[in-house]
Amino acid sequence: MKGIERLQKLVHGYHSVGLMLVMVVMMVVVCFNGDSSGISVVSTGEVITDMGDDYSFGRCDFFNGRWVYDNETRPLYKEKECSFMADDYSCEKFGRKDFDYQFWKWQPHGCDLPSRFNGTGLLEKLRDKRVVFVGDSLGKNHWISLLCLLDSWILEPSHKVAEWHGSLITFKASEYNVSIDFYWEPLLVESNCDDPVKHRVRDRILKIESIERHAKQWINADILIFDSYTWWLEPHMTLLWGSFEKPNRTSVESRRVVRYEMALKTWSNWLETHLDHQKTRIFFISLSPDHKESGDWGKRIGENCYNETKPITEQGYWGKGSDTDLMRKAQSVVQDLEKKGLHIQLLNITQLSQYRKDGHPSIHKRHWVPPTKLELANPVQYADCVHWCLPGVPDVWNEILYAYIRYKI
Ligand SMILES: *[C@@H]1O[C@H](CO)[C@@H](O)[C@H](O)[C@H]1NC(C)=O
Ligand SMILES: *[C@@H]1O[C@H](CO)[C@@H](O)[C@H](O)[C@H]1NC(C)=O
Ligand SMILES: *[C@@H]1O[C@H](CO)[C@@H](O)[C@H](O)[C@H]1NC(C)=O
Ligand SMILES: *[C@@H]1O[C@H](CO)[C@@H](O)[C@H](O)[C@H]1NC(C)=O
Ligand SMILES: *[C@@H]1O[C@H](CO)[C@@H](O)[C@H](O)[C@H]1NC(C)=O
Ligand SMILES: *[C@@H]1O[C@H](CO)[C@@H](O)[C@H](O)[C@H]1NC(C)=O
Repeated sequence: MKGIERLQKLVHGYHSVGLMLVMVVMMVVVCFNGDSSGISVVSTGEVITDMGDDYSFGRCDFFNGRWVYDNETRPLYKEKECSFMADDYSCEKFGRKDFDYQFWKWQPHGCDLPSRFNGTGLLEKLRDKRVVFVGDSLGKNHWISLLCLLDSWILEPSHKVAEWHGSLITFKASEYNVSIDFYWEPLLVESNCDDPVKHRVRDRILKIESIERHAKQWINADILIFDSYTWWLEPHMTLLWGSFEKPNRTSVESRRVVRYEMALKTWSNWLETHLDHQKTRIFFISLSPDHKESGDWGKRIGENCYNETKPITEQGYWGKGSDTDLMRKAQSVVQDLEKKGLHIQLLNITQLSQYRKDGHPSIHKRHWVPPTKLELANPVQYADCVHWCLPGVPDVWNEILYAYIRYKI
């Protein structure tokens, strides 16, 4: 318990510092999605009978399917019982009163996911290994979901400890000598958004060919799980060569797909030349869609995920905010890496997440910068339609990840 309490203090300490800094430099820094792990206490008394241990992976396409309401086997954990829950995703704690968003199960067409998430099975598979989630706050959303899924499978609190070291948060399951870490690196390459707390910078500057300072933090991992999308949506970014202090060249790049491709190239060259091709398994999470424009699903234009309580049922629904050019670019870079002999798998979670307009925190989360009077009068304005409530959609990303790790690699 001590380790967890310590982390909680540390994290909250970080946060007040973060907030103060934000207020001081408000004109420059807009910090709307503070990152922090608030932590509470565990105990899940659920009895589980697992038929999933003889799962055969086959050629299942996990990514095409539909959401099925299932209030008997979902949710896979309870928000209040997860020791690692963060205020950014704990929608119930922040007043969400409709709970159906927790009860949906993902059902692929024509095959099944493993019937039960077995944390012991996963931890045994990961024994003596290091897993690192590398990316932005959606990667963190994904990582916290995995910790919540594992939490009830490790009974002794001192055997599951998370610690914060700058951009790296490490979770250790000591009985298994497993570490499952999160590393903050929202644009993959080095940038002026790399501070794990104070990172909402309006004028984004990227060292478009530099990744080493980050990569040395995760290069020795056995399993790497990357995501990077949302941060690229900014209309203009400055690209820089040389150092931040003494750049020898800069250019302003307004074409999203060009700068995204350049960064992915830096990233993939690094992986290709520095990773142990035999040992390392890599996953790339396709873009996580937002629901910022209700016109996309046939509602009045100018609203968003605020007040949404049901998934979209239209098969193949696609929101205009999801940039298919960036998505295809990432897919082709991943496919090239695969051709070069790396073990890399794209987890194509975009479509399945598109259906879940009901899955976002909306106004039910800690807003690290409190909403203004104007916003409070019109909650649509400060609803978070980017991240996901937990339990919720990222649990399914993890059920898929679980299937790959446990039965495929
Ligand atoms: C989970 O998996 C482990 C290891 O494969 C197995 O021994 C155990 O019986 C499973 N637990 C449940 C509850 O199914
Ligand atoms: C599940 O939902 C159905 C229909 O809404 C309801 O009748 C039933 O009582 C619920 N079961 C549980 C376990 O909550
Ligand atoms: C724990 O795992 C690491 C690799 O992550 C390995 O180097 C080390 O030897 C392991 N420790 C023990 C006690 O097995
Ligand atoms: C630009 O900066 C890089 C990295 O510091 C350096 O390797 C390169 O030689 C520099 N180029 C010029 C033209 O100064
Ligand atoms: C949100 O939903 C509630 C309950 O359905 C409704 O009373 C309220 O008018 C809705 N608000 C908006 C802005 O749509
Ligand atoms: C990912 O899913 C989308 C939507 O279902 C599909 O259009 C795309 O081809 C898929 N990509 C890959 C690499 O399977």
